Amino acid sequence: MAKKATWYYSVRRVGDATAELKRMERRLFPADKHEDDARTQWWEVRTPKGELVAFASACIVNRICYLTACGVSKEHRGHRLQAQLIRARENWGGRRGCLVVATHVRYTNIHSLNNLVDRGYRACRPREVGWTKIDPDFIVLQKKAP
Ligand SMILES: CC(C)(COP(=O)(O)OP(=O)(O)OC[C@H]1O[C@@H](n2cnc3c(N)ncnc32)[C@H](O)[C@@H]1OP(=O)(O)O)[C@@H](O)C(=O)NCCC(=O)NCCS
Repeated sequence: MAKKATWYYSVRRVGDATAELKRMERRLFPADKHEDDARTQWWEVRTPKGELVAFASACIVNRICYLTACGVSKEHRGHRLQAQLIRARENWGGRRGCLVVATHVRYTNIHSLNNLVDRGYRACRPREVGWTKIDPDFIVLQKKAP
């Protein structure tokens, strides 16, 4: 797909999950459990025609902003939408007094890992960001909140 100008996509925080966002999450992460947490906030990305093309979620616990999920539909990958959604959630956490932003990513997920590294994330021990149990296929990353 030809590259779109940066204004083409609009990113916004929607608050609680909508049925449409949950459907997209299930489509992009079919193997996950999708447990709902009342603290989770959601973001979406739409085209000018209103088509939902990406989503992300985050929640705050003990002044840590956890980036919990992010997905871009296949036809719209390559427009740095994950990077925009990471930045939006970091800023949201920072404004709410978070000290740290943390996330975890499967070590085979090269595209996601590189986007996090580009935004300054560093690998850390799960315990440093409050996780006790973590699947060994995942790398835990963190950075200082803005
Ligand atoms: C990871 C993900 C969100 C990145 O999407 P994105 O923001 O559109 O990716 P970028 O704009 O950074 O893409 C950079 C390059 O990698 C390519 N790319 C991105 N994701 C890709 C994928 N899953 N498979 C193959 N190539 C991919 C892009 O086409 C682009 O290529 P180009 O530079 O030649 O144009 C997206 O691949 C996705 O939704 N994957 C499935 C869900 C997932 O893994 N989420 C993250 C969990 S932590």
